[in-house]
Amino acid sequence: MDQSGALDSLLQEERVFRPLPQLVIEANVNPQELDAARKFAAMDPMGYWEEAADELDWFKKWDQVLDDSQSPFCKWFPGARCNIVYNALDRHIETANKNKLALIWEGEPGDTRKYTYFELYREVNRFANALRSLGIRKGDRVLLYMPQLPETMIAMLATAKIGAIHSVVFAGFSAKALRQRINDAQAKLLITTDGFYRNGRIIRLKDTADEALIGACADCVESMVVVRRCNLGVDMVDGRDFHYDDLVRQERNEAPTEVMDSGDPLFLLYTSGTTGKPKGIVHSHGGYMVGVHRTLTTVFDIKPTDIFWCAADPGWVTSHSSGVYGPLLAGTTSVMYEGHPNYPQADRLWSIVARYGVTIFYTAPTMIRMLMRFGTQYPKGHDLSSLRLLGTVGETISPEAWIWLYKNIGRSECPVLDTWWQTETGMFMLAPLPITLLKPGSVTKPLPGVEADVVDRNGDPVEPGKGGLLVLTRPWPAMMTGLWNDEEGYREYWEKIPGRYYAGDVARRDEDGYIWIQGRADDVINIAGHRIGPAELEAAFCVHRAVSEAAVIGVPDRIKGEAAKAFVVLHHGFEPDDDLIRDLKRTVRNELGPVAVIKSIAFCDKLPRTRSGKIMRRVLKAEELGLDLGDVTGLDDE
Ligand code: WTA
Repeated sequence: MDQSGALDSLLQEERVFRPLPQLVIEANVNPQELDAARKFAAMDPMGYWEEAADELDWFKKWDQVLDDSQSPFCKWFPGARCNIVYNALDRHIETANKNKLALIWEGEPGDTRKYTYFELYREVNRFANALRSLGIRKGDRVLLYMPQLPETMIAMLATAKIGAIHSVVFAGFSAKALRQRINDAQAKLLITTDGFYRNGRIIRLKDTADEALIGACADCVESMVVVRRCNLGVDMVDGRDFHYDDLVRQERNEAPTEVMDSGDPLFLLYTSGTTGKPKGIVHSHGGYMVGVHRTLTTVFDIKPTDIFWCAADPGWVTSHSSGVYGPLLAGTTSVMYEGHPNYPQADRLWSIVARYGVTIFYTAPTMIRMLMRFGTQYPKGHDLSSLRLLGTVGETISPEAWIWLYKNIGRSECPVLDTWWQTETGMFMLAPLPITLLKPGSVTKPLPGVEADVVDRNGDPVEPGKGGLLVLTRPWPAMMTGLWNDEEGYREYWEKIPGRYYAGDVARRDEDGYIWIQGRADDVINIAGHRIGPAELEAAFCVHRAVSEAAVIGVPDRIKGEAAKAFVVLHHGFEPDDDLIRDLKRTVRNELGPVAVIKSIAFCDKLPRTRSGKIMRRVLKAEELGLDLGDVTGLDDE
């Protein structure tokens, strides 16, 4: 199905799904309570978020809920002192959660590891002590180049526990992309693994990490910690590189938790925008923990007996909020899986759900589309009756994929909760609850305490049924506190539509106030739910000696949602042929890593540009897809 077809089916989608009565009876938040929460939050937003903050533990309470006197910079809970790890781990050790499973991890070859809250707490303490002994202090940046391993979660928590700032970089990124992020963050420590299992193969990671550190440019890195996952022989640099198990072996089981100001940074996470430079989104301890805790527990209706599986990679915000911090704040049990969803065959996910009794399964539409191709015999072969809620994130789910998931995985009983949010928002923003009447393809409405609008370029609301720009009209606690070393970049989010947060998405609101996300308003490409910046891809093409210039756009892809198509102008004397195409694809992969999937390459004589010389990707896209992209989408071309 092409993109316009998908859009048509979204526009025509009229099916509604009501929650089963039993689910409504058992829900933590029933319809009347949701209504009351919305009204309360609309009347007294500060009161609403203060109540949410009161559900967590603080070393010292706030002087004020929100200080927006320096708007658009906002300080949530100024004056308060806290540490998210105190709430995610330390406090559970004093309760019945102490001996409850915090993490069930499964490796691709089938090995498993399980940690109770107490065990995870002690592991984190040991590694926190190791970090301190490596000289890591409050405010230092620790870069994690890690796949889905328990040590990834442990290292994130240990870093945060001692007040340092973690930045996780997707293990599918190249050495060059890693180096760029290390430099931008000026990371003092790099944590990686010898390798990991993916689709039956071992991917060597330490080698790539080493490559990233070659040259003077990454000399901010003083040490490297290497987790032994595959028992690979790796080169260890004396005095710089340490094995994780050697470091923690001697460490004590207790470690003090650093007392942080509410606004102190917790993590940096790089994400793509339209420019060539990835943006370092900054989240802080206080506001982030309040926003994530309230929204995760509300949307996913977390119960003490849940087994929650967020099948996202640690390099993305989904895993930060819904795989690590959110579930631990809520005291629930998480599942983490190392490998490929189709290894050894297309039922691996369903077999994990069945074996651990997963109750809530949260994934991306691209995963569903990929698994749909294999038919229903794979889910049918497993007992999926433990599931009670399904969730999706990252891109619009087509009604077809929604219904497939609902019927074949959810037994036509489990609501499919489509959650809209971003790295920048930190928490779910537009999303249903299990009790919400659902329309497949719609993210429904803003959560209580969140306000959104669909507007035109002047900021005026558009009529129901018409496409417009999605904006958020009031600050929320888990909002990014800034961009790393880029004040102007942060301000831009609030200047496109003055006074409001510009999300970069096109949306439509229907007669019932339900919001339907239609895709990006800017040039950012959404490949399999992952944001890829066109300028980064273009720069990667230009590394090849044959390329004079390149423009990259997103084109519809049946499985990945979007894939990248490149328009390339060659230097004089080079001729396009299959060898060159292969070579160009290889170059881009070397530059950026396997995330950068190039679907096709077209050669042309010149690229359309604005008068100021910016590439008009929108023109290429409109031509490619035969679309009239309308008024609202050109905001970033100016
Ligand atoms: C897109 C992921 C449609 C959107 C948590 C957004 C979605 C970008 C949805 C953020 C959804 C996310 N329906 N589109 N439910 N959720 N998006 O920062 O374009 O990796 O702006 O955060 O993904 O991607 P990010």
